[in-house]
Amino acid sequence: MKKKWKDLGYVDEPVPEKIDLVKEIRKLREEKNAVILAHFYQKPEVQDIADFIGDSLDLSRKAADTGADVVLFAGVHFMAETAKILSPGKKVLIPDLNAGCSLADSCPPDKFEMFKKTHPAHKVVTYVNTSAAIKALSDVCCTSTNALQIIEHFPKDQPLIFAPDRNLGQYLNSLTGRNMLLWDGACLVHEEFSLERILELKEEHPAAKIISHPECQQPLRLVSDFIGSTSALLKFTQQDSATSFIVATESGILHQMQQASPQKTFIPAPPNDSTCACNDCEFMKMHDLKKIYLTLKYDWPEVTVKENIRTRAEEPVRRMLDWSQTPQ
Ligand code: 13P
Ligand code: SF4
Repeated sequence: MKKKWKDLGYVDEPVPEKIDLVKEIRKLREEKNAVILAHFYQKPEVQDIADFIGDSLDLSRKAADTGADVVLFAGVHFMAETAKILSPGKKVLIPDLNAGCSLADSCPPDKFEMFKKTHPAHKVVTYVNTSAAIKALSDVCCTSTNALQIIEHFPKDQPLIFAPDRNLGQYLNSLTGRNMLLWDGACLVHEEFSLERILELKEEHPAAKIISHPECQQPLRLVSDFIGSTSALLKFTQQDSATSFIVATESGILHQMQQASPQKTFIPAPPNDSTCACNDCEFMKMHDLKKIYLTLKYDWPEVTVKENIRTRAEEPVRRMLDWSQTPQ
């Protein structure tokens, strides 16, 4: 028996072979006063149809400010959930409800609540890569773009819990000299990069700069010429004098890097799996043009957040936006 859409998590309907999906998406977007937001890790064709492409901080700002009635979020579930937390009156759609996040999953709310209770003097800073339930347990959220700014907002002697990414947490401890208590979570994509294969690539391309996301493990961070969020990495490749880069983050970002600097060379950093040349986030790559078209057509799948959780989660997200108004 064919599975129901509800069980699949996306609209499963054949579309005519000759349909021009880009044209149809544009038509529906206009009819429904919708905006399409896409993260840098999306497939190139999804980035190309978006009204706005960005990192998780920019996307949450856009979601808060948009005048559209419908937000179609081509990103992972926690990002769409953040849009709903900030814009409860808008319909927030995601083309595939299965687009989760290994990092967000590494922090279950019941366990985190117990952890928090055992450290009552600590303030809680959480990376936005968490569920709404975790945000509701936080004092302030952050993204990799503003994490340093958010943490430095607290007095030096304020004990802090940082969750869920242990790599970003370690990196921030090393930058600030703090000793934040770290939740033991990680992103499967960023932990999978092979230092050995990256160093082999560096030998083949000695002039190339290694650039990495702070979710990568410390040994890789230590050999990196630059560490930053997706938008910071993109900016670095535009402004730096190097003409080739080994890029240690999800490979979707290469699309914008190549478009912004067509004369430069971008080499994706490979994972431990010896057959792959780049590292994809399976969740980010679940969306495609057909699913976007069908989602706009049926206004489904929709992302919702229980109101009692949403109101508690809104406070730390808004605090993050307030504390990071000036770009770093
Ligand atoms: P950015 O905030 O740098 O866009 O990162 C989001 C993410 O999911 C990284 O894996
Ligand atoms: Fe989550 Fe990692 Fe995918 Fe980013 S790359 S969305 S942290 S699983």
